[in-house]
Amino acid sequence: MIHAVFPGSFDPLHNGHLDIIRRASSLFEQVTVAVLNNSFKSTKLFSIEERLNILAESTRDLVNVKAQAFEGLLVDFMRLQQAQVILKSLRSSGDFDYELHMAQMNHHMYPVETVFMTTEAHWSFVSSSRLKEVTALGADISQLVPSASLQALHRKFHTN
Ligand code: PNS
Repeated sequence: MIHAVFPGSFDPLHNGHLDIIRRASSLFEQVTVAVLNNSFKSTKLFSIEERLNILAESTRDLVNVKAQAFEGLLVDFMRLQQAQVILKSLRSSGDFDYELHMAQMNHHMYPVETVFMTTEAHWSFVSSSRLKEVTALGADISQLVPSASLQALHRKFHTN
């Protein structure tokens, strides 16, 4: 059984993430979405509980997917979970440049494989930080995020 961990900040979850999670759930027996909880220096818009709730609601129909918080090194979380694969998504060659050395460092620290999946082309311009910026300025991003994220963003920015 292959257990894959898809790590990230998910601040908040968007359709590019969700597409990867859905496709991964049919490739791997178990998928854990690991949400980084940087408790001592958080610059996140959403609390860890809010980010986990959005994920739980948006992946309710995927029986082999769960969301869980982690702190510290990802490889320590991998060891605890007895998971074999770190799953990362790539939107562009810029993402790959950033991810390559992270994958090699993780492999140096713990015998784990990083598997890359490419984002669907129509989500390749979507990032959580860009979504927050344009939502704060009044843009309609309803086509780019699941409804739980949309509602949470509107609550934060008092839009709609
Ligand atoms: O969504 P993000 O913010 O790009 O995700 C980055 C994340 C959480 C995958 C990465 O920062 C991470 O793995 N952090 C945990 C700390 C760690 O293990 N660092 C060493 C990486 S080589």
